[in-house]
Amino acid sequence: MMRRIALAALVIGLLGVASMWLVSLRPAIAAVQPPPLENFAAATVARGQALAAAGHCASCHTKAGGAAYAGGYAVNTPFGLIYGTNITPDAETGIGRWSQAAFARAMREGVGRDGSHLFPAFPYYAYTKLSDEDIAALYAYLMTRPPVAATTPANTLPFPLKIRAFQAGWKMLFFRSGRFQPDASKSAEWNRGAYLAEGLADCSGCHTPRNSLGAERTRYPYAGNIIDGWIAPALNSSNPSPIPWTEDELFTYLRTGASKLHGATGATMTSVIRDSLELPIVPDSDVRAIAVYFSEMDNAGVRGASIEATTRNALATSHLGSEQENDDDANLYASACISCHYNRGPIPLPARPELSLNSALTLSEPTNFIQAVLRGFGSAEGAPGLVMPAYSSLSDVQIARLALYLRRTRTNLPPWTDVESKVARIRRELR
Ligand code: HEC
Ligand code: HEC
Ligand code: HEC
Repeated sequence: MMRRIALAALVIGLLGVASMWLVSLRPAIAAVQPPPLENFAAATVARGQALAAAGHCASCHTKAGGAAYAGGYAVNTPFGLIYGTNITPDAETGIGRWSQAAFARAMREGVGRDGSHLFPAFPYYAYTKLSDEDIAALYAYLMTRPPVAATTPANTLPFPLKIRAFQAGWKMLFFRSGRFQPDASKSAEWNRGAYLAEGLADCSGCHTPRNSLGAERTRYPYAGNIIDGWIAPALNSSNPSPIPWTEDELFTYLRTGASKLHGATGATMTSVIRDSLELPIVPDSDVRAIAVYFSEMDNAGVRGASIEATTRNALATSHLGSEQENDDDANLYASACISCHYNRGPIPLPARPELSLNSALTLSEPTNFIQAVLRGFGSAEGAPGLVMPAYSSLSDVQIARLALYLRRTRTNLPPWTDVESKVARIRRELR
């Protein structure tokens, strides 16, 4: 009896694997001759350029110092490194032989020209919302870039994760193909912002928590997430910043990388600004629309009344540490940091991030604070034009003291715990 049950289970299992395999199969789409440049109207190409910028395609498809869109940038996932591919129109190593239909299928279904499944490190689950017109414009833009011969390095996914056919199962569980559906109860501007944020810019790719299989936990949209060792803060009404993200502050932050009432961009958010929303090719109206969408999500309208008082209180603590205080922590802060973070005027300067208004101090974990102090911000990181030296020469104890001192004097929140060991862990990971 037991043997028969075991045998039946085995057969069912094998049938399951076999049918998964069958379901996973997608036909290859025939290769085409690379289309001639004159196939694409200049206006369509220009539109595609603006879309590629707003979608920061370059950030994952261009390696540091490499040719634009020629691939080789490693997306650091919890499962391994997955490399952005060469999406220049090179016939051998890029997408030169991809028809528009093959391109559209990749963008909307996550399937390569040869029929194999793509990994969701490529945000096809967001691009599936894009309109036909926008897909055509992106294709026109990419196919008119200079072709670059560059082979993409092999991913470091372990067996069996690297088997592409298994992505069929992932898609069945977590992926729904479908175009953006506007919300008729909202303004055209809000809907444009939603389309850009959800479809093209994939803001939720970093700001929505993920489950153990790497899929977004759609029940907790924009509730915050850890990405590349930093916290991408919640963007919904549980955003940790003391001052709500009003439309104007968001617009300035996304356009310039720095907001006087919040602070400056850092970590992977940098690419969303520098490769994308900061670029003049992206129209102000699109950045404004994204700001409208998120300021509503952050409930900024309701919370806006407190802005003046919160700013005043923050500035009242800005000088703490500047006098010779009988407090070693204050003196450490004064000697290492205060020269750049002290604001005297009635409004903080964007170039002098006011730490009591910065989410690095108000998040429930000191992660971003520790990262900022250990790594600093070089000229290629963070907001354009703003730099901060790295303080990796400070000891774990000193960095923990600074974190706790600032949390104690600049916020009303409970002290962080275990800060020293968290500094040690992040320092190890950075090596
Ligand atoms: C978050 C990183 C990321 C962003 C942003 C991104 N891609 Fe990709 N893309 C990838 C990765 C990684 C792959 C390879 C996936 C794989 O190997 O399964 C990929 C693959 C592709 C492919 C399939 C090409 C091939 O050779 O198989 C196309 C087409 C593509 N991306 C176009 C775009 C466009 C257009 C944009 C901007 C709208 C974009 N990507 C933005 C990470 C990204
Ligand atoms: C590649 C990952 C990534 C993407 C995509 C991304 N973000 Fe971020 N974002 C981050 C990280 C990490 C931080 C924290 C940066 C820091 O502390 O300096 C951040 C910070 C922010 C902040 C500051 C929050 C606060 O209260 O401190 C805002 C606002 C923001 N992002 C908005 C957006 C919007 C809007 C989009 C889409 C257009 C977006 N992000 C896309 C990773 C990302
Ligand atoms: C030379 C000027 C300078 C000094 C000195 C300095 N900072 Fe900064 N700091 C900056 C600038 C500029 C930024 C914004 C950089 C960016 O994000 O582009 C910043 C950002 C930060 C942030 C926000 C990080 C985030 O998540 O975006 C924290 C926290 C911080 N600094 C803490 C410190 C501490 C603690 C010290 C002393 C150990 C210090 N800073 C010393 C200039 C300085």
